[in-house]
Amino acid sequence: MAQSMKKLACQVLNKTNNVEVILNSTALRANSHWWSNVQMGPPDVILGITEAYKRDTDPKKVNLGVGAYRDDDGKPFVLPSVKKAEEILHQKGLNHEYAPIAGETAYTDLVAQLAFGENSQVLKDKTNCTVQTLSGTGALRLGLEFVTKHYAKNKEIWLPTPTWGNHPQICNTLGLSHKKYRYYDPNTHGFDVKGAIEDISKIPEGSIILLHACAHNPTGVDPKPADWAQLSGVIKEKKLFPFFDMAYQGFATGDVDNDAAAVRLFVKEGHQVMLAQSFAKNMGLYGERAGALTFLCGDPESAAKVMSQAKIMVRTMYSNPPLYGARLVTEILSNPQLKKQWLGDVKLMADRIISMRKQLRAGIEGAGNKQNWQHITDQIGMFCFTGLKPDQVERLTKDFHIYLTKDGRISVAGISSKNVNYVAEAMHKVTS
Ligand code: LMR
Repeated sequence: MAQSMKKLACQVLNKTNNVEVILNSTALRANSHWWSNVQMGPPDVILGITEAYKRDTDPKKVNLGVGAYRDDDGKPFVLPSVKKAEEILHQKGLNHEYAPIAGETAYTDLVAQLAFGENSQVLKDKTNCTVQTLSGTGALRLGLEFVTKHYAKNKEIWLPTPTWGNHPQICNTLGLSHKKYRYYDPNTHGFDVKGAIEDISKIPEGSIILLHACAHNPTGVDPKPADWAQLSGVIKEKKLFPFFDMAYQGFATGDVDNDAAAVRLFVKEGHQVMLAQSFAKNMGLYGERAGALTFLCGDPESAAKVMSQAKIMVRTMYSNPPLYGARLVTEILSNPQLKKQWLGDVKLMADRIISMRKQLRAGIEGAGNKQNWQHITDQIGMFCFTGLKPDQVERLTKDFHIYLTKDGRISVAGISSKNVNYVAEAMHKVTS
């Protein structure tokens, strides 16, 4: 009896093992097919350039692709004010509990003040809803996703031509229809005010319009104060909903208040704007992902409702935002002495870029180049839209190991006194 029980048990075991083997191999085969219909995607138009740059072993290589500030030795720059804030934070010995879903209010209050001004009436009236986001991209994504779910009017967004490559990508991901209005004039290398106004005045009522608050990416071309006043007028008349992307506050003029002038003008004129902010550039907190999204809602009750829905959206995406970058920003903006130091750091970065523009232009002209390069010094912020054609860009990369985006944009922050002559010479050669 015991013998036959043992035999039976063995048979069952073998059977089970076989089934297991069969199941495992089926699972394996199925596994190898889970993703078989996934197509290879293209590298990112901007961040893919950095990947290519890193693979290049030539010692002369220069990365003018990504908009990330470098010091005059071409090294990443930790702002002295940020270093100080790091020390203070370290001494505080804080814990790592969760942040609130929308971020700490100490942070969101301070960043809204930085954008809208310390005496902003909308902030005093508490008609804003400000949420900490995963830097500027996170703010754009949250804002546009909010639009697709809750904006009751014309769900169509109008983007300047050209614009940051990630703007249309985010819209595509969300299935948000996007169209273009004229912005940059390739003939003057400046703002096409006539074209912009003409196009904007034809945008259907209730549409969303995306505006770069300052230091337009990729062109480095900003509307003048009088142009902004005109834009505000036509946007109001057409009842459009302005969404400002302010990723470079301080980088255009070196002054954070000057750079927020367009946003503040719109608010003064009664627009209920939405605003994406980033501290990647102006505090050098690229990898810390400190940003914010503000909705101006007209009254505190609407602001509370918008906040409740924004929190649901955040909770289902990433629960709550990262603490460290936001703590650094809070430390800097809440401490008058540190804030003063930070404003100096911002100016230092902006000034170095301005000086590189001058040297680059002088270098190209000095090499005897016959083209007009005035736009290099006219444009502002981190980028210069050089006007180089795709084949010239390709030559710069292939022959000179200088990396930039295909549209001819260069990050002037990647130029230093050590490589400016090399870059100027190369630009001269590919354009002569
Ligand atoms: C850029 O335009 O280079 C920056 O905004 C970095 C990025 O994420 O694209």
